[in-house]
Amino acid sequence: MGLKVLSVASEAAPLIKTGGLADVAGALPGALAAHGVDVTTLVPGYPAVLAKIGKAKAVHKWDALLGSPARLLAAKLGEHALLVLDAPALFNREGGPYGDASGRDWDDNWRRFAAFARAAADIAGGAVKGRGFDLAHVHDWQAGLVPAYLRLAPPTGGCAVPSVITIHNMAFQGYYPADIFAHLGLPASAWTVDGVESYGGVGFLKAGMQFADAITTVSPTYAGEIRSHEFGMGLEGLVLARSNRVHGILNGIDTREWNPASDPHLAAHFTAARRAGRSKNKRAIEQAFGLERGDGPLFIVVSRLTWQKGMDVLAEVLDHLVGIGGRLALLGAGDGEIEARFRAAAARHPARIGVRIGYDEGLSHLMQGGGDAILIPSRFEPCGLTQLYGLAYACVPVVSRTGGLADTVIDANPAALAAGVATGIQMNAVNDSALAMAISRACALYHRPAEWKRLQTNGMKADFSWDASGAAYAALYRQLLEEQG
Ligand code: ADP
Ligand code: GLC
Repeated sequence: MGLKVLSVASEAAPLIKTGGLADVAGALPGALAAHGVDVTTLVPGYPAVLAKIGKAKAVHKWDALLGSPARLLAAKLGEHALLVLDAPALFNREGGPYGDASGRDWDDNWRRFAAFARAAADIAGGAVKGRGFDLAHVHDWQAGLVPAYLRLAPPTGGCAVPSVITIHNMAFQGYYPADIFAHLGLPASAWTVDGVESYGGVGFLKAGMQFADAITTVSPTYAGEIRSHEFGMGLEGLVLARSNRVHGILNGIDTREWNPASDPHLAAHFTAARRAGRSKNKRAIEQAFGLERGDGPLFIVVSRLTWQKGMDVLAEVLDHLVGIGGRLALLGAGDGEIEARFRAAAARHPARIGVRIGYDEGLSHLMQGGGDAILIPSRFEPCGLTQLYGLAYACVPVVSRTGGLADTVIDANPAALAAGVATGIQMNAVNDSALAMAISRACALYHRPAEWKRLQTNGMKADFSWDASGAAYAALYRQLLEEQG
């Protein structure tokens, strides 16, 4: 019989997306269906989500979910079941999922996502008639309290199904002052270092890591890195204490959304064997960004413009990039200061550097489909998806050797080139000289067309579909259920 899993996430593509979590949550149901697992996704009812699902049936209601009335709406995420927590006081606001239009976090995020987790635990535990689940798979701090509720305060008459928490980014922990504890509806005994307490406050991610039956993160290398202080960001002790429960399962990519042979956002389709269409896409990018044509490589960036992504370092080396004949098309938004530095570089080098501040899903596909190389100098990267899209679209990734970037890109060093297995360029450190050197290496390789073509072909042929990772999650769920007996 198929397993029934409730996947709990604060974003899921194509309903609502701020980053890779949405891609993963959106793809999981399809990835797992192939392995006999029936995934229902639960997301909050933000205005964008409610607008996209249209008229939906209410299947449950709460009079007071941490004080707010709420309904549960049943809809569809593609072919798969979707549940939406419609709690207007908490989620029906203009702005993003986590903050207002200016990017400032909502003050009551603890309440919003504690209520979301409480509802998820009720649903997973069997509180909604006719919808039972075998297991809850929860993502990031926003769903971090689900394992704690399931273990310490399961729904009346329901059961404490096992749970898996996936850490997509250890840098976001959902850390709040101690005084919110009294409002969470957890037993007083949860207030200990072995409970939800974390450095004197309440840690949502910490709580999830403490009480989940398994902890996964989105690449094998990151699963190792978070054992250290640098990457564990204060939770490394807990990672070590629970190390026999920690698994690294690499994200896949949704090959229906990301296929250069059929992608509706491209100016021209292409395959590994017939790549001519890429030049048409390149022209379209040049046009969109107001760039002149050139003999050197067209670099692209599709990224949050933040410190994590090493975008401050990239801003330092743009004169070098242009100086050696490169051009850059950048799409992203984030840190205001970094945005300003890219804008200034575009003003210094009009027609060589084009900058689009904002979010544009379609343009991001076109850029992968026509750019020569994608720059990803992240300081840490739990998995990273844009290098995978780059590989699939023959846009050669230039990356730092960390997390999922280390696991998915094979550096074009002499040995790998000789063996014909290289797929991109890696750098060992994130600083301006290392990045400038990586960009120079990319430029030099670009001017050796046979080798460059080989990099592109290898990338396009690499398999980063969900097949293997879907199987790994399914095996983990089954193992946990067997343990439960
Ligand atoms: P993270 O989740 O840390 O931001 P990932 O590489 O895992 O990094 O995922 C980022 C996702 O968001 C990718 O699907 C990427 O294409 C997309 N993305 C990031 N910035 C933009 C943007 N400005 N416009 C369109 N898509 C973007
Ligand atoms: C996070 C990470 C990113 C990862 C994504 C999806 O946003 O920063 O590396 O790819 O989650 O798991």
